[in-house]
Amino acid sequence: IRHLLSGADLDADTATQILDTAAEMATVAGREVKKLPALRGRTVVNLFYEDSTRTRISFEAAAKRLSADVINFSAKGSSVTKGESLKDTALTLQAMGADAVVVRHPASGAPHRLANWVDGSVVNAGDGTHEHPTQALLDAYTMRARLGRLAGLHVAIVGDVLHSRVARSNVLLLSTLGAKVTLVGPPTLIPVDWAARAGAAPAVTDAGPAAGSHPGTDVCYDLDAVLPGVDVVMMLRVQRERMNDSYFPSAREYARRYGLDGPRMRRLPEHAIVMHPGPMNRGMEITPEVADSPRSTIVEQVANGVSVRMAVLYLLLGGNNR
Ligand code: CP
Repeated sequence: IRHLLSGADLDADTATQILDTAAEMATVAGREVKKLPALRGRTVVNLFYEDSTRTRISFEAAAKRLSADVINFSAKGSSVTKGESLKDTALTLQAMGADAVVVRHPASGAPHRLANWVDGSVVNAGDGTHEHPTQALLDAYTMRARLGRLAGLHVAIVGDVLHSRVARSNVLLLSTLGAKVTLVGPPTLIPVDWAARAGAAPAVTDAGPAAGSHPGTDVCYDLDAVLPGVDVVMMLRVQRERMNDSYFPSAREYARRYGLDGPRMRRLPEHAIVMHPGPMNRGMEITPEVADSPRSTIVEQVANGVSVRMAVLYLLLGGNNR
């Protein structure tokens, strides 16, 4: 593949190749010499129009461990604040020799537009409420590392699904890799089309329906009913910044019905793991007891993100596909 814009870009073979390559990359991190020469002479631009901690830093670390030159671009402090368009910014970066552009943007679809304008590879690092495919890859990597497989796993994705690009990319990728997904949350925070497809009562929200429903996905509004039957519970951040207060319950009510606390965690099967993409609202969707428990993979997810992003950059820029 030339670009990674969506979880739908990955068939099972390609996704597995990325996960296997990431496992090889992870061995580099344990060596005394942590760098590989694979992308020497290549330039990776991190183009971030939205805030990020994990994704931006791990793409930078990944590119540097592959010996690429890295240019970090943040919209704040750039000519974007003077009104320069995404296209003109992209063409400027291309003129500086970008081989890959890693882009985060508040507008859903921005990376797809960018891919039409630049010659290099484009990697979607999160676009609006749409997709975050490398997060889904590192989540799949973490599940496989902890549980030994992906096919046949039952994964509950819990909370603010409506605004979650992480949820959409995970649904696409996990379905491709043979896992079953159940979306759990208040009716107002489950996309209308997903709920309708799963036969659940549709909810009306002022955010409107989200695109990209997937036929293999179930919907349930009762977290307690789902927990005893899952292998993975993935908690999502409640994205208050994207919400109108009129359809959000109080924080206390949300935590009572959809927050993962100690008693709820103990309803999970013994082997089940707890995930969260970060950043977390501790005390709302997840309590500190759960986030810091041995079942939690939250810190591992961050570490695995570097290996997975090394694999993505390597296969886009250094593999035999160009
Ligand atoms: N999970 C994730 O995308 O985190 P950041 O917003 O910190 O990059």
